[in-house]
Amino acid sequence: MADVKKKTIVDFRKMKAEGDKITWLTGYDYLTAKYEERAGVEMILVGDSAGNVMHGYKDTWPVTMDEMISHAKAVRKGAPNTFCVGDMPFMSYQISNEDAIINAGRFIKEADMDAIKLEGYTKSCLERITAINDAGMVVIGHIGLTPQFAAQLGGNKAQGKSLEAAVKLVKAAKDIEAAGASMILVEGVPAITGKAIHDAVSIPVLGIGAGSYMDGQLLIFADMVGYFDDFTPKFVKKYGNVGEVLLKSFQDYCAEVKGGQFPIDGVHAYKIKEEEAKAIEEAIAKEFK
Ligand code: KIV
Repeated sequence: MADVKKKTIVDFRKMKAEGDKITWLTGYDYLTAKYEERAGVEMILVGDSAGNVMHGYKDTWPVTMDEMISHAKAVRKGAPNTFCVGDMPFMSYQISNEDAIINAGRFIKEADMDAIKLEGYTKSCLERITAINDAGMVVIGHIGLTPQFAAQLGGNKAQGKSLEAAVKLVKAAKDIEAAGASMILVEGVPAITGKAIHDAVSIPVLGIGAGSYMDGQLLIFADMVGYFDDFTPKFVKKYGNVGEVLLKSFQDYCAEVKGGQFPIDGVHAYKIKEEEAKAIEEAIAKEFK
């Protein structure tokens, strides 16, 4: 996919109108982003799931703005022509509109992201969406299973499973659209709730574990390639087995180093002219005898 033209929010609106599904994966580093762009992935989320996936934290809460900026910069280097989204980490936007604008602005100014995403639909979350949008940035809302609210949700559990809960999420989506978001991400809801949310708003609605009615799909890259194995959400489909490939490569390497099969001098070492090699051998032998 050499020289792909980077998509904009206008392209994504058009894709929604034409029923062309948007592809979205998380990415946290240069190499993965490079392969994602090569594959034609249309959006990359530099998610605060970096906390679990890249840093081994038990959840996303400890992730800092500085860590997110570092991941976002690496992703931008790997995927210069892909629409990239910086995910606002816990406590980067909760305190005030000013904080939210400053931190969203860091994603845009320091890491060249195209948009930011923030979780939640409380009164203050809606205010933050409006504030960041008014400052000229593209905002993506995030409802349903929102890990930054896990304590209040009683854990990372599927949401929108009753009529009352589904209606609440539909209302949330409408409020987020009215607040100025350009897209909504819905996470961890039954497909029928996903459809109700999708049908209630006019902006693109993307899903992760929210069924097939969405305008596009997101997955955590490390889940779908079979790399992250601490836990795997029910909605993940595995497209690869990177973990097994790594494990086997590391095991084979260890066995070959120990067994003397690696390296082979004529193959995995720098070569010099034979007479040079002979001269070195003779001189060293004479000097250190
Ligand atoms: O951080 C992330 O990867 C996310 C997705 C799980 C939706 O927010």
